[in-house]
Amino acid sequence: MRVLVTGATGRVGTNMIMRLITAGAEVKAMVLPGDPHGSKLDAFPDVEVVEADLTDQTAVDVACRDVTHVVHLAAQLMRGDTPVDRFYDINAFGTLRLLEGVVRAGGIERFVLASSDGTYRPGRPPARPLRENSWQQPADYYGTSKLLGEIILRNHAVQFDIPYAIVRFATVVSPEEAGTMFRLSFWRSVLEWQRLGKDSHLWPLFDGQPDLVTLLDHQAGDAAPDTAVGLRDPDYQPWTISLLDVRDAVDGVHRALTEPGAVGQALNLAAMKPTTHDEGAAVIAGLYGVPKLMVTMPMRHRLEVSIDSAIGRLGFWPEHDFRNTVRGGLQGADDYVPAQSTSGIAATWPRDSSDVHNSHERGGLAGTSQISP
Ligand SMILES: NC(=O)c1ccc[n+]([C@@H]2O[C@H](COP(=O)([O-])OP(=O)(O)OC[C@H]3O[C@@H](n4cnc5c(N)ncnc54)[C@H](O)[C@@H]3O)[C@@H](O)[C@H]2O)c1
Repeated sequence: MRVLVTGATGRVGTNMIMRLITAGAEVKAMVLPGDPHGSKLDAFPDVEVVEADLTDQTAVDVACRDVTHVVHLAAQLMRGDTPVDRFYDINAFGTLRLLEGVVRAGGIERFVLASSDGTYRPGRPPARPLRENSWQQPADYYGTSKLLGEIILRNHAVQFDIPYAIVRFATVVSPEEAGTMFRLSFWRSVLEWQRLGKDSHLWPLFDGQPDLVTLLDHQAGDAAPDTAVGLRDPDYQPWTISLLDVRDAVDGVHRALTEPGAVGQALNLAAMKPTTHDEGAAVIAGLYGVPKLMVTMPMRHRLEVSIDSAIGRLGFWPEHDFRNTVRGGLQGADDYVPAQSTSGIAATWPRDSSDVHNSHERGGLAGTSQISP
């Protein structure tokens, strides 16, 4: 098995490479020219590194040569001031260019695309839990671009007989990032970015709502920024979110790459159970010794995905819940590669209280991203 991994320097990508090497695969890693995180691959001297931008068909064609399997993880995740067309160019047309490269090269045995629970309707899931046949009606650019990637893959698979699988990740959490979640300043930055229109993921939640940042500040009073905070609805029911430890993510992708039952399927990947904000905040409070606070929001948010299909078809059995992930970060677990990220969960977190304060004064935070791409 000779596997091309795109997005090789990302949160999932480097861990995927580690997993594939452990399983005895040969790996070709596709990285962006000039990628500032390229040194993450220094730990894998046997991996062939090929530089290619998904917007460059010629370079992508070269990357696709001489591989039997593809794990397509590269994507545009950062929101902020990213132009809208960039999401489509990377996540939709970039997937098309990769498929064109694969078809030209020939010999492909499995193509796995990383998609997202953001392809369902973010903010207002129409069903709970979300299953693979739940209505996909993304309300933001990122989710739409990922759904277009899925459609393009299915179309190419039919035309060119490509054995494929789609994995829809819940919010992927790397252990060293997990302790940043369910904190006052985490939610403050997430909600602030929504308010500023810099992050589209939860747009539907904000329709016709009062200013959620002000609501948060009002209820938090003078609580310290690192206070453990969960959000709940007007009936005092905690919000919920499906999370996915990066180690379970790579296990699921590996199964999608190798198990016959994956072919032609879209499969949700998440922890065994969704995390309630009450549980999440309690984990942070307990493990870090900080106070815990529940903040009431004027609406309900439950993003819960079912992994029954992945369990049945792949034998996927996630090992990590949120507590376990946070503990892994605290104890310096050595069974994963840290994200060093500029996107995802960690990028949402202001580093210290002065950041929080300054961001409040500025009316925004530099370098933040989304809670669930
Ligand atoms: N992180 C999450 O919470 C999450 C949730 C759902 C789905 N996903 C999906 O999982 C996949 C991996 O996510 P991640 O968290 O590892 O992302 P990441 O941001 O950590 O890594 C993205 C990778 O893509 C590469 N990349 C970006 N633009 C590129 C381009 N134009 N050409 C070539 N490479 C490019 C980056 O260099 C990086 O290596 C993505 O497809 C993402 O959409 C992630």
